[in-house]
Amino acid sequence: MGFFLLAPMDDVTDTVFRRVVADCATPDYTMTEFVNVDGLCSPGRPKLMRKLDASLDTAPVIAQIWGKKSENFRQIASEIADGTIPGFSGIDLNFGCPAKSEVKAGCCSALQQIELRPQAADIIEATLEGAGDFPVSFKTRLGFHELDYSWHEFLLHYKPWVLTVHVRTTKEMSKVPARWEDIKPIVELRNTLSPETKIILNGDIRDRAHGEQLVEEYGVDGVMIGRGVFHNPYCFAENAEEIWQGTSKEDRIALLKKQIEMHREKYPNGERPFNPLKKFAKIYISDFPGASELRAKIMEPTSAEEALELLA
Ligand SMILES: Cc1cc2nc3c(=O)[nH]c(=O)nc-3n(C[C@H](O)[C@H](O)[C@H](O)COP(=O)(O)O)c2cc1C
Repeated sequence: MGFFLLAPMDDVTDTVFRRVVADCATPDYTMTEFVNVDGLCSPGRPKLMRKLDASLDTAPVIAQIWGKKSENFRQIASEIADGTIPGFSGIDLNFGCPAKSEVKAGCCSALQQIELRPQAADIIEATLEGAGDFPVSFKTRLGFHELDYSWHEFLLHYKPWVLTVHVRTTKEMSKVPARWEDIKPIVELRNTLSPETKIILNGDIRDRAHGEQLVEEYGVDGVMIGRGVFHNPYCFAENAEEIWQGTSKEDRIALLKKQIEMHREKYPNGERPFNPLKKFAKIYISDFPGASELRAKIMEPTSAEEALELLA
C-alpha cells in the first residue's frame, strides 16, 4: 500500500477543491497552492493568507512555500509549525515550479542549478530551523537543464520527511511523458543517505490503481496525483475508474453544484473570483449526452448565483 498525495496546483487546490476531492475519495495528504513567503512577510499578507486556509479540509494538508529570503522562510515555517498559521501537518519547499518569472528570480526550480545551491542551502537550513520538529518535505524535478542526481543527493543530506520528484526536468516543463524509471537512482540514494525519507513519484499518474502499480515497479513509497483529478475526481478511490464510469449525469452535475456552493460560502465577498471556477466544469460535465452543450452554457454566468440557477 503506497502513500497517496494530491498535488499542489495553483488556482486549483484551494481548501474548497481539496475538500471536494477528499469527499470523493480521501488521499493521505493534500498540499496547498504554492505561497510566497516574502509576500507573507509584507503588507500583502492578508490576501495571500487565503492560500493558507485549511478550514474546510478533512484530509491532512501540507503548506507549500516558496520565495527568496531565507529569513522569511524561517519566519513562516515557525508560524506554521507553532500553529500561528493553523491547520497544517507539514511544510513543503517548492523546488519544481518552472514558470519564467519564478525561475528568473532565482526561485523554485531555478534552485536546482549548481550555482544556486548556496541559496538553496540557506533556504532549507532556515526552514528547518523555523520548523523545529515539524515535518518538512521537498518537491522537485529531475534537474534544471538536464537530469542531475547531484541535486537529489544534496537534498537527501537534509533528511527530509518526504521527497517528491516530478520526473521531468525544468526545461521539459510538462511537454514530454513523465520518465518514471528515472526515479530509481533517487530511491537508491535515499536508501544510503536518508532511509527514513519517503520518496514520492509524480507525473502522469492516473489514479490509485495506476499508482499502486508504479509503487510496486519502482520501489517508491507513494505517488502524487495532480491532473489525474481533472479526469477523475474519484482518482484516490480503490476502484476509481469503475466509480467514475458509474457516476450518473445527475451526480456529476451535483458535484459541480457542490463546489460552486462551497466556493460561494467560503468567499462571500469575491475573495476568490468566480470565473476561474468555470474550468472545473470540464471535470464534472463530461461523458454524458449533452455534456458539451451544458459545458458551453456554464461558461456564460458571471456569478455563482447565476451558475447555480442554470444548473438547477
Ligand atoms: C494548474 C497547475 C498548477 C500547478 N501549481 C503547482 C504549485 O503551486 N506547486 C507545485 O509544486 N506544483 C504545481 N504544479 C505541478 C503539479 O503539482 C505536478 O507536479 C504536475 O502537474 C505533474 O503531475 P501530474 O502529471 O500528476 O499533473 C501545478 C500544475 C498544474 C497543472
